[in-house]
Amino acid sequence: MEVVVTAKIILNKLDISGKLIAFDYDKKAASTLPKILLINDNFSNMKNYLKNMNISSVDGFLCDLGLSSLQIDNKDYGLSYRFDSLLDMQINKNARISAKEIINNYSFQELADIFYYYGEERRAKRIARKICEQRRKEEINPNKQLANTVVSCFPRKNINRRRWHTKIREKN
Ligand SMILES: C[S@@+](CC[C@H](N)C(=O)[O-])C[C@H]1O[C@@H](n2cnc3c(N)ncnc32)[C@H](O)[C@@H]1O
Repeated sequence: MEVVVTAKIILNKLDISGKLIAFDYDKKAASTLPKILLINDNFSNMKNYLKNMNISSVDGFLCDLGLSSLQIDNKDYGLSYRFDSLLDMQINKNARISAKEIINNYSFQELADIFYYYGEERRAKRIARKICEQRRKEEINPNKQLANTVVSCFPRKNINRRRWHTKIREKN
């Protein structure tokens, strides 16, 4: 997965002494461009890396945060319920905690907080309760199983039959 478009624009603007340092904790992120140092680690470790490289100031930061469509479209990450993949959802494989472990082991309150505070989901408690009920019967694993559990927390009239998972929030 090449880190390209933005990097090329910046590289074109650098003078001879300029340096571009990029961070992406996805080990698949790669660059064959010259004059770019790509570090496969968390942004949060940036300060330490710069310190170790004796860099005390930079001209600028460009933060392109979140996920890339390449990651969403890659079945191996288990991010999209378009594919029947394992409930993984880790981009940083060093994180050592998968969505499967969280969904199947976190307490009702911890799950509800994740959905409410990070997902801004009004039905956070209902979804967390349903997950806890479901996992008492069997482990929730393929991501479609989780998607179905979540969908069952919404009234049928709110579900667009063709693109049901993505349409729930919009109609709710
Ligand atoms: C929107 S994509 C940007 C992709 C990049 N600009 C390119 O052209 O390939 C966001 C990237 O941030 C990475 N990322 C998300 N959170 C991170 C973090 N805390 N530390 C390091 N990388 C992170 C993801 O792996 C993803 O590749």
